[in-house]
Amino acid sequence: MNDKYIFINEVGPRDGLQNQDVHLTKEERLKIIHSLEKANLPGIEVASFVSPKAVPQMQGADYIVENLNDSNCDYSVLVPNLQGYQSAKKAGANTVSVVPAATEQMNQMNINMSLDQSLLSACEIISLGKVDEIKTRAYIAVAWECPYEGKVDEKNVLRIADQLIEAGADELILADTIGAANPESVKSLVSKVIDRYSIQISAHFHDTRALALVNVWSALNCGVKKFDSCIGGLGGCPFAPGASGNLATEDIVNMLHQSGYTTNVKEDELMDVVKGVSRILDYEIGGRMTKWLNKENIKK
Ligand code: COA
Ligand code: ZN
Repeated sequence: MNDKYIFINEVGPRDGLQNQDVHLTKEERLKIIHSLEKANLPGIEVASFVSPKAVPQMQGADYIVENLNDSNCDYSVLVPNLQGYQSAKKAGANTVSVVPAATEQMNQMNINMSLDQSLLSACEIISLGKVDEIKTRAYIAVAWECPYEGKVDEKNVLRIADQLIEAGADELILADTIGAANPESVKSLVSKVIDRYSIQISAHFHDTRALALVNVWSALNCGVKKFDSCIGGLGGCPFAPGASGNLATEDIVNMLHQSGYTTNVKEDELMDVVKGVSRILDYEIGGRMTKWLNKENIKK
């Protein structure tokens, strides 16, 4: 892969839709996934195997996984606990994401576990993944700031990362769950993580304070080559107050293309997906460049 290639992992079908008032059917979500494949997204987080009582929007994860058919796309699913992992495995998932958070309270609120329990559970899933030949992506949620406990000490993040990587995680993703990081804090943490580990390091930014793109730029300059993003900038965690939308996929793709990077994502097809999802949700969604893009199209 060339030096300028950046991997975009689309999280819309999960992070984007898990918090919407309109609950999409599993068939509708699968259709969106297929249209994202057509836009050439190399990775898609397609669903989460969570309790339907906790997140009714994500019902039907097994149906979605069973109906995936693009062998070029790196699909992943979120699993909050061992039960979720077992269900994902049964459905045929190739890659699962574990989501321990860096703070005690966030783990409690999100998955009803203490920090220690959550880490132990994540490490157990990672070990099982090795045996079952299922790839594991290990998130560290609220890696910079927690809505309950405030700023997060980098040492805690590194301690958690050490354990996840020791267990055998294939990828580590630093998640700014509530969009509170800034380019300097990103540089500080990411540079330490990149120096410390040899596995793939990714970043997941929310755009709460309009800093997601510049945070990407900061992480990019530290050597990160894979980012999560979400069509239309949808998203937010139901269990993290203050978590507004994710970084919009169209915004990051546009910034990277304009700056000489490649992603292989087809921008026109991507905007068609954004428009389609907007219609289903029945409100205007879109990243920061949507208005500009629409004007450009009118001019043509
Ligand atoms: N998938 C589906 N159902 C699950 C499950 C999973 N991964 N894990 C537990 N459950 C079910 C149990 O079967 C049980 O069902 P029952 O009441 O019908 O018997 C019920 O949930 C309670 O089980 P328990 O192990 O006590 O779970 P909990 O109440 O502690 O809930 C989670 C834990 C993780 C399942 C729940 O908090 C959850 O799904 N959270 C969603 C997290 C999320 O998606 N966050 C956003 C992304 S980071
Ligand atoms: Zn998120």
